[in-house]
Amino acid sequence: MKYLVANWKSHKSIDEAVEWLEKFVNSYQPKSDEIIIISPPFPYLFKLSEMLKEKRAGQISLATQDISPFPLGAYTGAVAAEMIKGVVEVVIVGHSERRHYFHESHQEVANKVTLAQEVGLRVILCVDEPYAQEQLAALESTHLHNLVIAYEPLEAIGTGKPQEPEQVTRVVEKIQQLAPKCPILYGGSVNPENVAVYMNIPGISGMLVGGASLEVDKFIDLLRRS
Ligand code: PGA
Repeated sequence: MKYLVANWKSHKSIDEAVEWLEKFVNSYQPKSDEIIIISPPFPYLFKLSEMLKEKRAGQISLATQDISPFPLGAYTGAVAAEMIKGVVEVVIVGHSERRHYFHESHQEVANKVTLAQEVGLRVILCVDEPYAQEQLAALESTHLHNLVIAYEPLEAIGTGKPQEPEQVTRVVEKIQQLAPKCPILYGGSVNPENVAVYMNIPGISGMLVGGASLEVDKFIDLLRRS
């Protein structure tokens, strides 16, 4: 299977989000080997989830961009995994922007993985170099098996300069040794022009796309060329 993930980060109004999804569902028919995952900001999830159910767009899943490292309880402001199961199927955790701007530790990210998997959510864990080994080592081995891992080199995120494919190939080999059998995605300045190159890297099962997923036409173009 091919995973194609649109990470909107902290962009878009609710109207823009609805318009994007409406147009996407009406214009793009996912191929049978594709899993399309849209990751909007938290406040839009319920609305977009209802839209997907109404339109019976079964090959399109929603993902959160984060979840709380705690279960339900007295944790003001936190969105627990338990709350969003049934609304999304997938959670993204450990994105480098979360690790950097929100000071998330490897252990906190590992706790998120555990809590999400316990309620049956699929986890996309983001890792980067040179920390991938420690980031993966923080997980209990039982939680490692069901992950999708997104390799996102720090210098490639949002810069317009993806990492050289040769270097991505080397890191993917290393991640495969640390987490055998986990699908591995690449993320970092993927766009319609370069997507085919990165999709063709051995061991790569998909793309995590930020900037190039914000305009629906551009994202569809990227999917068609992937
Ligand atoms: P980018 O972001 O495609 O804008 O580089 C990727 C990501 O951070 O997930």
